[in-house]
Amino acid sequence: MVNAIEWVEGKVIMLDQTRLPLEVKFIECADYRKVAEGIRKLWIRGAPAIGIAAAMGVALAAQDIRADHYDSFMNKIEPVFFELLSTRPTAVNIQWAIERIKRLLAEHRGEPVSTLKDLLIREARKILEEDIEINKAIGRWGAEFIEDGDTILTHCNAGSLATGGYGTATAPMRIAKEQGKLFQVIADETRPVLQGARLTAWELMQEGIPVTLITDNTAGALMQSGDIDLAIVGTDRTARNGDVANKIGTYTVAVLCKENKIPFYVAAPLSSIDFSLPSGEYIPIEERSPEEVTLVNGRCQIAPDGVNVRNIAFDVTPHKYVTALITEKGAFRPKDLKKLMKTNAETERFRFRP
Ligand code: MRU
Repeated sequence: MVNAIEWVEGKVIMLDQTRLPLEVKFIECADYRKVAEGIRKLWIRGAPAIGIAAAMGVALAAQDIRADHYDSFMNKIEPVFFELLSTRPTAVNIQWAIERIKRLLAEHRGEPVSTLKDLLIREARKILEEDIEINKAIGRWGAEFIEDGDTILTHCNAGSLATGGYGTATAPMRIAKEQGKLFQVIADETRPVLQGARLTAWELMQEGIPVTLITDNTAGALMQSGDIDLAIVGTDRTARNGDVANKIGTYTVAVLCKENKIPFYVAAPLSSIDFSLPSGEYIPIEERSPEEVTLVNGRCQIAPDGVNVRNIAFDVTPHKYVTALITEKGAFRPKDLKKLMKTNAETERFRFRP
């Protein structure tokens, strides 16, 4: 398994995912601006991975700050938070990571600046390590939904490349494979950036999980003919009513699943649930450059010069289409998410079972 992001000897090393699958090239980021550029340009992408990148970006920035006390350190780190937050608006994970870092700094108010700098490195590495463990837990719960002989549809890439490792939507597949279950995956190519074709297909092939690539508009036909048993996708931000923002095209898949009576699961670390938002209409949706649509792989032009383009990067799937959200604490129906906020003790009672 190739790591999407690592902290190595005071630098952030990220895999340039825009070059995959043709080239495996790593980019060394020695300062936070390079990390921000990497997030914007999709060298690193996927909600949990960009949260980790933001935390590492803050840690890098901190090392270059000249300050002799807490307040002046905070004044200098604040603009870094803003710059990283401005890179990609839909995934909640950048915001989540920065809020976590702010809380940590507040708890250590008054400590020497050198201690704060060390703390930020440790926290960024911890966020990465925790993410992998969380994904494995998602995998253990999610594997219960996979049976021998199943064909699983997935959209975009919610694999190890989109996370610290192991993936969210792919974690149940990995665990099911470890359990000896025999199943196959259908990957939507995921226009326009082709995360499904370039990343998911590549990753699953490396894992030895049988995968078939389809164009996005093929999914409906395969559902109609009974060739898909369940769908598992990731999420960039989920509102507290269970509405799910994920890569553009996810909504279409969910509606098709409902029409064809196919369970539609969303694999989601609790950190990607934004309990401050009552519903999906409040989720900010990123629009990206027209060139992602008019050029394939940034090179080959496929549309007339000057054509109008809408390139909406994410859509919102209303919770009525979501069979269950598979989190590190178990799977839950969207309507039960709110109860997770209240008490851990009740968690067990609300778990959704296959
Ligand atoms: O634009 P991207 O490639 O960052 O979009 C990624 C997705 O939509 C993923 O499905 C989502 O972030 C979940 S990743 C575990």
